[in-house]
Amino acid sequence: MTVPSERVYPSSASSSSLVAKECEADGKGLTPRESIDESRFEAGFCEFHGWFTAGIKSTDGTGSRWFSGCPRCLAETKIKKLFGQSMIPKRFADKNFEGYEATEKGQYQALKSCLDFAQELKTDWFSGKTLLLIGTPGTGKTHLACAVGHEAIKQGRTVLYTTITRLLEDIKSSWNDKDRSVKNIIARYVSVDLLILDEIGAFTGISEREKDYLFEVINARYEQMKPMIAVSNLRLSGADSIEAYLEERSFDRLCEQARLVVFGWESFRRKSLC
Ligand SMILES: Nc1ncnc2c1ncn2[C@@H]1O[C@H](COP(=O)(O)OP(=O)(O)OP(=O)(O)O)[C@@H](O)[C@H]1O
Ligand SMILES: [Mg+2]
Ligand SMILES: [Zn+2]
Repeated sequence: MTVPSERVYPSSASSSSLVAKECEADGKGLTPRESIDESRFEAGFCEFHGWFTAGIKSTDGTGSRWFSGCPRCLAETKIKKLFGQSMIPKRFADKNFEGYEATEKGQYQALKSCLDFAQELKTDWFSGKTLLLIGTPGTGKTHLACAVGHEAIKQGRTVLYTTITRLLEDIKSSWNDKDRSVKNIIARYVSVDLLILDEIGAFTGISEREKDYLFEVINARYEQMKPMIAVSNLRLSGADSIEAYLEERSFDRLCEQARLVVFGWESFRRKSLC
């Protein structure tokens, strides 16, 4: 289906009216046409969403109308675009809160913490909160991180999912590329409304320079009080931990106003094994 964008139609041949007339007999009763104030607005018809307020009648005497298209189709198109830009992997494209099975207390608490985090973002986006999801493989950390991401996208927010490995590769790819600077790549990770940083610790042998890049991203988001979700199999602190991996300066910033969830049950991936 083609979604009408902002267009101006001459009053004598309003396409929305024509569509409306054609579809009148076929009205699926989704939005009653009578609810549209036709003295001020024009009725449009969407084959998916029924009647909608299509345009505002001009008052400037030119006889032109501003035609906006079906608002629900436009919203859906925006969500699809935001999802495409989010880089959420295909496997997690439809992972949401409803699809997360909570059969034990820990899973229930994990689900609730992530739901609460998503809810808090709705009311106050720039409160500088971080969600720290740590624990053993296959327990649903990435699933719930992406579920929060989907909720943010539904609110019209820009989301970017990445693993540490991909982020560093992205930055390093600019070293020999005259069209892309490190500064611009880092700016992309800072500018999005929500950053999901997965697999912290999976990239071994991280150099001092790479730690500096990570610090730049984390610190800039910290300064701007932009939310982040950090995901890892590592422990929080001590030997072989997120603190040791990222170093104190980055780790410390992630901890301020953080909601920590520890995942420690059997891998869901192995459930299908008989
Ligand atoms: N409680 C659950 N309910 C439904 N599906 C689950 C649950 N836990 C995990 N899964 C599913 O199991 C698979 C593995 O989960 P996920 O990738 O989120 O684990 P993870 O904790 O991120 O693992 P890793 O640390 O290895 O990256 C995914 O397909 C996910 O949707
Ligand atoms: Mg994962
Ligand atoms: Zn529509």
